[in-house]
Amino acid sequence: MERHTRIINFSWERILIALMTFLVTAEVHILILSGSAQAEGNIHHLDFILEEKNYTRLCATKSMLVVNGMFPGPTIRVRKGDTVYVNAINRGPYGVTLHWHGVMQPRNSWSDGPEYITQCAIQPGTNFTYEIDFSTEEGTVWWHAHSDWTRSSVHGAIVVHPSEGTTYPFPEPDGEEVLVLGSWYTGDVNEMVQADLKAGDDLPDSEAYTINGQPGDFCPCSSDSTYRWHVDYGKTYLLRILNADMNAELFMAIAGHNITIVGSDGAYVKPFVTNYIMISPGRTIDALLTANQTPSHYYIVARQYNSGIISYKVFDHTNASAILQYNGNYTAPDKPEFPTTLPSYYAIDATVNFTMQFRSLADEDHAIDVPLNITTRMFITASVNELGEKSYLRMSSSFNNISWVNPPVDVLTAYYRNMSGYYTSDFPDEPPAFFDFTGMLSANTSASDFGTRVKVLNYGEEVEIVFQGTNVINASINHPMHLHGYTFYVVGQGQGNFDGEKDPKTYNLVDPPQLNTISSPKNGWVTLRFKADNPGVWLLHCHLDRHLSWGMNTVLIVKNGPTAETSLREPPANMPSCAIESNIKEAVDDKSLTG
Ligand code: C2O
Ligand code: CU
Repeated sequence: MERHTRIINFSWERILIALMTFLVTAEVHILILSGSAQAEGNIHHLDFILEEKNYTRLCATKSMLVVNGMFPGPTIRVRKGDTVYVNAINRGPYGVTLHWHGVMQPRNSWSDGPEYITQCAIQPGTNFTYEIDFSTEEGTVWWHAHSDWTRSSVHGAIVVHPSEGTTYPFPEPDGEEVLVLGSWYTGDVNEMVQADLKAGDDLPDSEAYTINGQPGDFCPCSSDSTYRWHVDYGKTYLLRILNADMNAELFMAIAGHNITIVGSDGAYVKPFVTNYIMISPGRTIDALLTANQTPSHYYIVARQYNSGIISYKVFDHTNASAILQYNGNYTAPDKPEFPTTLPSYYAIDATVNFTMQFRSLADEDHAIDVPLNITTRMFITASVNELGEKSYLRMSSSFNNISWVNPPVDVLTAYYRNMSGYYTSDFPDEPPAFFDFTGMLSANTSASDFGTRVKVLNYGEEVEIVFQGTNVINASINHPMHLHGYTFYVVGQGQGNFDGEKDPKTYNLVDPPQLNTISSPKNGWVTLRFKADNPGVWLLHCHLDRHLSWGMNTVLIVKNGPTAETSLREPPANMPSCAIESNIKEAVDDKSLTG
């Protein structure tokens, strides 16, 4: 409330903003009175100050943008159903946006964050208050910048505890711990990416992976600051792991300890025991660890799973490490034990064996509703492409052979204000040609087309998407697919070309995992289903930023339903504006709206 009083000034614009803020707040109160599930929770106000700060890793110092002086950034802790207002104050040198990965944001694309999709950047010296509406999520989700490659330093965890009066579907843990996996670049990552995109070169690899911001003992100049997780013997901890790295799937294991997987992407799963994990960028995994081994020090190690071709050796081979350290009196070993169960870089079997174990809890308290009457079917090929000649952009990547091009005005604004010319509604339901997608492919499959083509869905549509990975330019690789505004059920996956006759017979429609990110497997396919019941503009993309930068994304626009409660909300008063040209268009639009 004090924030609201602070902004009131003598300008009409400010009075208007204050009035609209009051109306929004009033709406929240009305919802509480009417007992709406969404507003049952608490309301939190946070300030996120984006500022550059110096960090030293791998024997070198650089300055990078972080939130509230922290890397990784602050953890947001809420209960299911809460609402958080994050005032993002940009004191950095360039524009930035923030995204709340895995938060459904019902009817509220306005605060979803991807640049050019739902907003333009928050310019230096300005601020924007995001409204983060927690509804069905419970477990761990996260937040990150969604402009350029700024998310490499601007990210953090979101812990969603059970709502008041409810509890976990397992015994209450004695404590909890967040492990954020990240990537470290010695140079200025945005500058490197811009230069590479201009030159048409490959995009940069990280120099090290990190655990809670630290590369750990196996990296130069790092062992003094290795992250330590202190535990008490006999206690059970809820471990919340998130992969915030830019471009790689990671294996992780803890020496001497099994863990029990209990959740992923903000939903519970049927518990299973494992001695390693594989986690895609964008994914979160919740697990229980009981400190029941001889009190000592144990390494927690993460390294890349490389799903690319084995002969391609240019990637970050770092073993990022942290130490699981028991409290108490004992003689610590000179060197902690290394996890013998950590798979090697190319261990595809380890990834398949691990991913196939995820199942929804699907019990009375955690009911699921897998769409069974599919009304929209999409078959989307995912390819890394190469353009014929070395032109402006040599590398590209695509969905159904279309490389996404960002419009100058965000899709959401263009859609909401009926501004034509910024996107077309013709993203195809299938690729332009069917061929042996996973075979050895000839050069004439290699180039992609460019466009800003979106898929429009009617409200309530039951959607099935089959992602088919291709071997175009011999570059088949896992693509961690992420959909904003939704979770989806992963009903099936397999190797090779998708077979529309045979493969659907293998679908799990009983307890498929409910996720927001799933790897479309190298030279294989994955099928997901969801009901289009969240109206708005939602980005669908590969969560490897190198592929996102090259265009492996599209946008789903879900139209309004029949009522106000099934329609996209009004924009907040202080949306960051786009280019000057668009301001004029908006002004014209506003005039026509207000007469
Ligand atoms: Cu983790 Cu488009 O987001
Ligand atoms: Cu990809």
